[in-house]
This record gives sequence, structure tokens and C-alpha cells, in this order.
Amino acid sequence: KTIADLGDLRGRRVLVRSDLNVPLDGDRITDDGRIRASLPTIEQLSGAGARVLVCAHLGRPKGAPEERYSLRPVATRLGELLGRPVAFATDTVGESAQQVASGLAEGEVAVLENLRFNPGETSKDEAERGAFADQLAALADAYVSDGFGVVHRKQASVYDVATRLPAALGRLVQTEVDVLRRLTEDPERPYAVVLGGAKVSDKLGVIDNLLGTADRLLIGGGMVFTFLKAQGHEVGTSLLEQDQVETVRGYLDQAERDGVEIVLPTDVVAATEFSADADHEVVAADAIPADRMGVDIGPDSGRLFAEKLADCRTVFWNGPMGAFEMAPYADGTKAVAQALVEVTSGGGLTVVGGGDSAAAVRQLGFADDQFGHISTGGGASLEYLEGKELPGLTIHEESA
Ligand code: 3PG
Repeated sequence: KTIADLGDLRGRRVLVRSDLNVPLDGDRITDDGRIRASLPTIEQLSGAGARVLVCAHLGRPKGAPEERYSLRPVATRLGELLGRPVAFATDTVGESAQQVASGLAEGEVAVLENLRFNPGETSKDEAERGAFADQLAALADAYVSDGFGVVHRKQASVYDVATRLPAALGRLVQTEVDVLRRLTEDPERPYAVVLGGAKVSDKLGVIDNLLGTADRLLIGGGMVFTFLKAQGHEVGTSLLEQDQVETVRGYLDQAERDGVEIVLPTDVVAATEFSADADHEVVAADAIPADRMGVDIGPDSGRLFAEKLADCRTVFWNGPMGAFEMAPYADGTKAVAQALVEVTSGGGLTVVGGGDSAAAVRQLGFADDQFGHISTGGGASLEYLEGKELPGLTIHEESA
């Protein structure tokens, strides 16, 4: 169901679950991409005369208030982006939330305090989650699920509340699902996936699945050292998941059997320690010195990755190629971003998935419109590609 299926919204209170989990430095938002991505739904509801109550989480507080995880700076930023004041409730379902909810005029928008300040939000106990979902539902007349980044979470505001109110999927969730569906259902080929980030153990499911759908898999980031080790190379003091080496060896064999090309870096930037001013040099990927750690893919690998992407018609990218937040180690990530930009301008579909990768491309000076789509979901987009059932989506199918 879409927002239109909720009927006339004038004067009705609509609870919107957005993903406003943005990176903060103190109370300064360093990347407001997720807030911007939430605007179309909020504006549509407000334009239809609804009284809009936005709920979201920030970080991973443990079921009790913590000042550093307050959504107040996010509410302020949302107001700036909407160009009008946004009310803020200092709790999620308590007195402040109830007052704010009842004080909203038609078309006005309010943000509730962090959902995860309440133990019921993330509880594994269905009754506890249900009780919190009841309290959330009591604030509103309808519910819109728009936090794509959390649809893989079976949590009160994502899952349980959808059965307690007339419910619909918001515009962001619909856009994200439409794009990701194009990757899983008959993608235009060649179809390449670039994976980076720290841990291979976070990506096992998706790699498993991609070995059946992608033509090429390019690997960089911290996880690549487990691949290099699986090929029999020493990796010095680089990140390594020893317990995954066997699994990765299995993937390499499977890829060879199934004709999926796995592209690994041929050179890496190796530093004496994990810091921007550490001594660093470019070394061959199979000759990392024992006292150094890989912190980025090297320049030859950047060129190789760009070449392997150049003729692709579909590219999905999740995870930086190196420690891009430190300028000397950002080149690999930049090279991949630039390669995607070229695929986009040649008419191919490029999708950047995940909070980290999205923040990386923006921080490196790329604009959102240089890519086909920048997904707001990290774990959610990976689980989608993995073919897993996402509770925040299936609950809507079931209730429909
Ligand atoms: C994310 O940052 O990927 C989403 O906001 C989900 O956050 P979580 O992993 O803490 O559930």
C-alpha cells in the first residue's frame, strides 16, 4: 500500500518511521543524507494536511535515555531542510509526545525522541515490543513505514506497529525497493559488485548469493586481507578474520567453477600503524611486510578495478576500499567512486549501498546525482541482495 491508499489525510495524525540515524560529531551532523532522503514522504504527508509525527532511532542506546543519542539536533536540521519549525518531543510515547501530538495543527511536523530510549523498541520479547507498539500506535491514526535502513529489523516501530494502524510504505522505501529489485531480477549485464569495509563475516550471506547472480566481484577494504590469506599470501598486521579463511577459500573455488570473476587488488598501501601520519608505502598484494598493515588498495589496483567496471551495465557498491577518512588512504575509494560515475554517465545503473559508502562518496567530493542511486540502507540493502525476508517489508504484505 502507498500513502495514497490511506485516503484523505487532512487533520489525521500520521506516525512516520524514518531512518534518521546520521553520523554526528558532538551535536554537529556530518552527513545529513538520510534526513534529506526522508523529506519526500514527510512533505507529501504534510502537504496533504496530515499532522505528522516522525519517529526514528539514533545510534544504539540500550533502552534508556542518553543525551549524546538525542534526536534534537536531527529535528533542528529537519526543520531547516523543510524551511519551517519542527516541534520536538523530549520523550517518545510519554507526556511530552502526547502533548506535542495533540498540539500539532494540520500540515505541521514533529519529531519524537529516540525510539531506542525505550526497551520495548528492540526487545526480543514480543509482549514487551507489542506493549511499546501499542503506545506508539495510540499517538496516531495511521502509520507510514519509510525507514529503509531499518526494514531488516524486527522492532516495534518497524514491525509491530504496522499491524496496529492503517499502514502504508513511504516513498523512500518504495524507491529503494524498486532499485534493488532491478539488481536482483535480471540485472543488465555485465553486472559487477564491489565489496569493501572491515569484515568479511558481515558479508558472507551476500557473497554467497552474489556468486549466483553477479558476473564480477571486486573486493577491497579490510575484508580483502582474509581473501589474500585464503590465496596463501601473508598479510602482515592487516585486519584478518582467521576463522573465515576456509569459507573464503570455498568462495574462491566456487567462483572459479561457476565462471564468476573475483577481482582482488594487485597492490596495497601498507602502513606501520593505523594512523594518517604513519609511514606508508605501496607494496605488491602478495608481499605485505610482516610489520605493516594494508590500509587501502594501491594505485595499480585502482586502475584494475576501474577497468573491470568500465564495460559494466550494472554496478552495486558497498563498503570503502580503504581507511578513506584519512586523506592518504582515500585514493582507492576515490578510484572506485570515479569508475561508478563513468558507468552512470554511460547510461548504466550504479547503486551505492550503505551509510558508510554514501558518507564516503560525499566526503570525497562526489555529488549524489553522479550515481544512479545512493541507498540509505547498509545492512538492509545487503540483506535485500542476500534474498532474506525483511520483517519491515513482509509485515506490510501480510497485513495487506
Ligand atoms: C543503519 O545505520 O544501518 C540503520 O540505521 C540501522 O541501524 P542499526 O544497525 O543500529 O539497527
